[in-house]
Amino acid sequence: MVQKIALFNHKGGVSKTTTTFNLGWMLASKGKRVILVDTDPQCNLTGMVLGDETEDDEARLENIYNTTSNIKTGLAPAFESQPRAIEAIDCIPVQGRDGLFLLPGNVGFAEYEVTLGIAQELSGSIQALKNIPGSITDLFEKTATKFNADYILIDMSPSLGSINQNLLMTSDFFLVPTTADFFSVMAIDSLAKVLPRWYAWAKTASSLPILKDAAYPFPNVTLRFLGIIVQNYRIIRGKETAAFQTWIQKVEEAVSNKLVPILRHNNMMLPAIVYTEQGINGSLTLTKISNFNSLIALSQEHRTPVYDLTPEQLRQTGIVLERNQKKQDEFRKTFSDLADKIIALTSTSNYAVSA
Ligand SMILES: Nc1ncnc2c1ncn2[C@@H]1O[C@H](COP(=O)(O)OP(=O)(O)O)[C@@H](O)[C@H]1O
Ligand SMILES: [Mg+2]
Repeated sequence: MVQKIALFNHKGGVSKTTTTFNLGWMLASKGKRVILVDTDPQCNLTGMVLGDETEDDEARLENIYNTTSNIKTGLAPAFESQPRAIEAIDCIPVQGRDGLFLLPGNVGFAEYEVTLGIAQELSGSIQALKNIPGSITDLFEKTATKFNADYILIDMSPSLGSINQNLLMTSDFFLVPTTADFFSVMAIDSLAKVLPRWYAWAKTASSLPILKDAAYPFPNVTLRFLGIIVQNYRIIRGKETAAFQTWIQKVEEAVSNKLVPILRHNNMMLPAIVYTEQGINGSLTLTKISNFNSLIALSQEHRTPVYDLTPEQLRQTGIVLERNQKKQDEFRKTFSDLADKIIALTSTSNYAVSA
């Protein structure tokens, strides 16, 4: 059965998209079948995977937009009351990595925000809207079945709108990528306020007969928090700089003192033993990822994770190449360890606790 993992933080620029790509690729290289879903109307993930620089790239993107092979057109049967059922998306194989696929985004996906908002508020009383709240998860499940996927990684937009509310509450797990600064602490604080409200809504929605009996039933709530990924902190001589260390600590305190207790109270945590068995601390920091520096631009240019760029792609020799290869080894280990933790945390025996 597929596991849906949402990468969520309503703060932008915290490496949601970059992590989705690097982590998804790593999970696939460990033999898992993974679908990356671009739900952000900015379509950064789609651009990153398919490229959007040349005319050929653009023609390919235009083609995808005009077919049923993207998030918006896939959902149109429910959102636009079309007389056809939702069908699995024809995901695009990601070049260079067997077992990794992209469910492309669509700039127009944001147009569904208002409709979904209305459906989510009123669907208990309005027949015509009953098929909308369960439609996104239906599309994902059908697509996962078609591709025999083990994981769906959902790259989300930086918003607290109804689409994100739906995406998160119908996922099995979520990760919170975060940077380490003042605004990141504020974002964790506000998640601690928003998530209980969303959870309460989802519990109600999943118990409404009208939504259960819909063409696309609203699922039971099974969401569990996997942890945070602290991103892009600066390193000097192998150590974080003092300012970053302070903010990392503050982010971790906000997670362990505010977010985790509230998530536990709302049944969105795995049993504590499952985290400790993986060596995960109280702030649920799964990993800290330092600045990719020059590797990030090359990674985007070659649509390849930072750790899998070849020496030819690095276009370097001698000591510079050696230094970057050493960094690549570190990033490979970071993402490999992260993928192992995620595989362990999401294994069936752990999440099969009652909702
Ligand atoms: N570890 C990192 N080191 C350096 N740059 C990074 C790192 N992670 C992300 N970035 C860069 O930071 C910017 C924001 O990352 P992105 O993944 O788009 O964030 P989000 O999806 O949360 O908005 C991008 O330009 C990306 O290339
Ligand atoms: Mg993004």
